[in-house]
Amino acid sequence: MKKIGVLTSGGDAPGMNAAVRAAVRCGIDKGMEVYGIKRGYEGLLDGEITKMEWHSVGDILQRGGTILRTARSPRFHEDNWIDHGARILGAFGIEGVVVIGGDGSFRGGVELAKRGITVMGVPGTIDNDLGYTDYTIGFDTAVNTILGLITNIRDTSSSHERSTIIEVMGRHCGDLALHSGISGGADVILVPEVECDINEICRRVLEGQATGKGHSLIVMAEGFDMDSSELAKTLEEMTGREARTVVPGYIQRGGSPTEKDRLIATTTAAKAVDLLYDDEDSKAIGVFNGKVVALDLQEALEVKGEFNRDLYELSNVLGKGR
Ligand code: F6P
Repeated sequence: MKKIGVLTSGGDAPGMNAAVRAAVRCGIDKGMEVYGIKRGYEGLLDGEITKMEWHSVGDILQRGGTILRTARSPRFHEDNWIDHGARILGAFGIEGVVVIGGDGSFRGGVELAKRGITVMGVPGTIDNDLGYTDYTIGFDTAVNTILGLITNIRDTSSSHERSTIIEVMGRHCGDLALHSGISGGADVILVPEVECDINEICRRVLEGQATGKGHSLIVMAEGFDMDSSELAKTLEEMTGREARTVVPGYIQRGGSPTEKDRLIATTTAAKAVDLLYDDEDSKAIGVFNGKVVALDLQEALEVKGEFNRDLYELSNVLGKGR
């Protein structure tokens, strides 16, 4: 393969730039021409493709976001537009693409693969919701960002003796809530994977109050089946203690990537380029038991993620009022 492309797609994630840098430099090092495709599949459809040089990716390793920009592309769900995208790649002579993104981006990649383009998926999303890999790029940075917020909120929550609900991102996956919650010492963690009704939440907060806890911290995943403001209202009524809701939103998606995100971005993107160079079929690159692995792209999307129930149970023990 002589010419390859690289794009970032879907929600941005810290570490995407590190992946772009590795893809560009490893490709050039192997003697290939590397093209940057702007704004994900949207930019592909509009032909926003430029040749990247070694220096095009200088000074970006430490930056959050993505220099290639990103987008969600409703057009890329339609067959005629996907055909158009494949034709545009053909016009540039691009035979393989490194797609950095989440499951929606990989699904777009599967469609391109059906049209003769080799696609290597690099997992970039703060949600950690791709079942085939232990880890997605951006998750570690986002967890640490949330942890910083929990630490700040803890101060004011305890001064005012309040209950505070912190609603974090993650779509249908509770990993961001679980990891930040257990590491931040949350009293209650609410995730889509585990049912927990309002009575149980109130009981647990009340048990904490009864044993002298001055305040309560609840970390709730956005995919949990409850409205955080409604929950705050009910908690106030049931516990007699003021409750507040904090929704950090996009703050969670920005910031300089951690060492872990930079390293995983670098090694998985390098692997993607190796596989393109070796003319392998389309794959999803991931991390399994600490090693970089590659699975068939379509099959990878079918792997169901396993929620870490043990960690969740442990958080319940540690958050108890006793
Ligand atoms: O997938 C990443 C993510 O940040 C999710 O956690 C969140 O639900 C979603 O993207 C928000 O998407 P948008 O940027 O389109 O508002």
